[in-house]
Amino acid sequence: MEEELLFYDAYEEFYTMAKESEIFKEFCKEAYGEDFSQDGFSDINQINKILPYVNEGAEILDIGCGNGKMLMYLKEKCKASIHGFDYSNKAIEYAKMADKEADFEVGIIGEKEYPDESFDVVIAMDSVYFAKDMKALVKQVRRWLKKDGVFFVAYQEGDVMDKTEDENSTVFAKALKEIGWDYEVSDISLESFEMLDKKRKIALKYSEQFHKEGIGMWGDLLIDQTDYILQGKDKYLENLARYIYVCKK
Ligand SMILES: C[S@@+](CC[C@H](N)C(=O)[O-])C[C@H]1O[C@@H](n2cnc3c(N)ncnc32)[C@H](O)[C@@H]1O
Repeated sequence: MEEELLFYDAYEEFYTMAKESEIFKEFCKEAYGEDFSQDGFSDINQINKILPYVNEGAEILDIGCGNGKMLMYLKEKCKASIHGFDYSNKAIEYAKMADKEADFEVGIIGEKEYPDESFDVVIAMDSVYFAKDMKALVKQVRRWLKKDGVFFVAYQEGDVMDKTEDENSTVFAKALKEIGWDYEVSDISLESFEMLDKKRKIALKYSEQFHKEGIGMWGDLLIDQTDYILQGKDKYLENLARYIYVCKK
């Protein structure tokens, strides 16, 4: 079953590297403002946009939580009660080691279930792309939310997902419309371009240290992930987009 899941082996290796490498932790802190073992695009500014929706004691779920570091930050900031799932066995093993009280489970997007009205906030940072059926996923999340609960989604186009016309034509927005769930959306594409520009400079700065640590391949990958900016800001904004969706139940 695991072999059929997109990028499964790569994520097992990624989260092992993230646990073992001191350079990667330093890189994340400098590039993103905080080390959440990010795979990609969420810097501290984006994560802090979640804070206004998380009241003290809120039950919060992270879909594709990786090793749980984002959730642990939200727990510390908001005294939230945290839940997360990810298909990576390694990531969940490390998450459980780091926070023994939290609820971390191995689970596949679309298959993992929770009882209705379990959460005040559900977040999905660069993970809804892996849903085999987007409409089914948004329906499921709406069921999991308590009344007035919030689904907070960071969504990128132009890499895993094809670029569509705008924030209302994405696969995700279409799924929300199909089930009649209203949303607010902000376009953070320019912010994301600037973040990638910074990430590139820092990845280049750390490159030699990644190689010295014997994980040069990961250092090179971090640089490759920022190649999009080489086309320049205008072309980047034509070809890529990043949105934050907030859906209230
Ligand atoms: C792009 S990363 C984002 C990770 C983290 N949320 C972040 O913002 O840095 C996607 C995450 O989803 C997980 N993932 C990918 N496909 C999945 C699936 N089918 N079911 C559950 N988790 C999956 C990966 O292990 C990874 O942690």
